[in-house]
Amino acid sequence: MSEAGRSGKGISKDSARSGLSRVQALIGALLLSCGAAGSYLLATDGSLWNLALSHALGLVMVVLVDFGVGLMSLFSRRSAYLPSLAAAVLGIVLQLGDIVTAPQYYQTVQHFAAYLFGLWAFDLMLVLQAVVLVLGVASRRHAVYLARRRSRKGKELEYSRRGFLKSLGAFGGMVAFVALLSSVKLPASSGTSLSTTTEVGAPTGAIAKKSSLVPDTPVYFEYPSGYPNALVLQKDGTLVAFSLLCTHVCCQVQYDPTVDEYGCPCHGSLFDATGKLLRGPAAVDLPVVTLTTDANGYVYPTGVPNPGPCQV
Ligand code: FES
Repeated sequence: MSEAGRSGKGISKDSARSGLSRVQALIGALLLSCGAAGSYLLATDGSLWNLALSHALGLVMVVLVDFGVGLMSLFSRRSAYLPSLAAAVLGIVLQLGDIVTAPQYYQTVQHFAAYLFGLWAFDLMLVLQAVVLVLGVASRRHAVYLARRRSRKGKELEYSRRGFLKSLGAFGGMVAFVALLSSVKLPASSGTSLSTTTEVGAPTGAIAKKSSLVPDTPVYFEYPSGYPNALVLQKDGTLVAFSLLCTHVCCQVQYDPTVDEYGCPCHGSLFDATGKLLRGPAAVDLPVVTLTTDANGYVYPTGVPNPGPCQV
């Protein structure tokens, strides 16, 4: 970005100034729209808060940066020029980077990517940020010209690789800081905080003794390790066990004893007492865990024949 000599020919001071102001106003409007789309995601997507708190907090910072730099750009503050491009780069990197963290949230990368790209606000943010970068490249001539000019106050415009990286580092640091705060897990966060009720004294690997189960009262257990499930004795004496990870985007469903159903806190999917789907957006039942009972009546999990999207 520093080879000013190549690009400043054929334009006047006034056209460079007015050209850059127009581009900045446009970039400002785009970043404000991007901030609005991010705010919509934060307000409507429960999985952000329930499943991936660090992503939610990171997105809060991205939205704040977009609004701040967007407003400055809208009013053609030249000091916002490089930060606006850095904000767009950071937003794109973070959004695409989110996808590869899928295994951390029990999902395959493909499943998580399909979910994210299915969100119009997510797609809109990517497009808006990409357009900001295109505008940044398109206005390079004006920026280079103004970066070479010196007024009484100094350079008309900061336009250097170093300045860009400084902004990128500052924004990235802010996002990393708030994302780190989320390493202190909230009690409501999904998954690993489930308290299991496996019997004291039961053989290794056993979930419970069948004779000690209360009909329609789930006993929680991990299988495989780290994956939450429920074992339920039906009124007719049969046993069922199923995963508690919602087959939509793998938030942990919660049992409501008043209606004997399992509801998902993220987007409202509902499953009956045996894990069968009652209401979407999930499209399939909770995965069944197969069971065996030993001669002493202890129940053991033996497999998950159709694990669905939430076991990696
Ligand atoms: S994760 Fe979306 S409804 Fe359960």
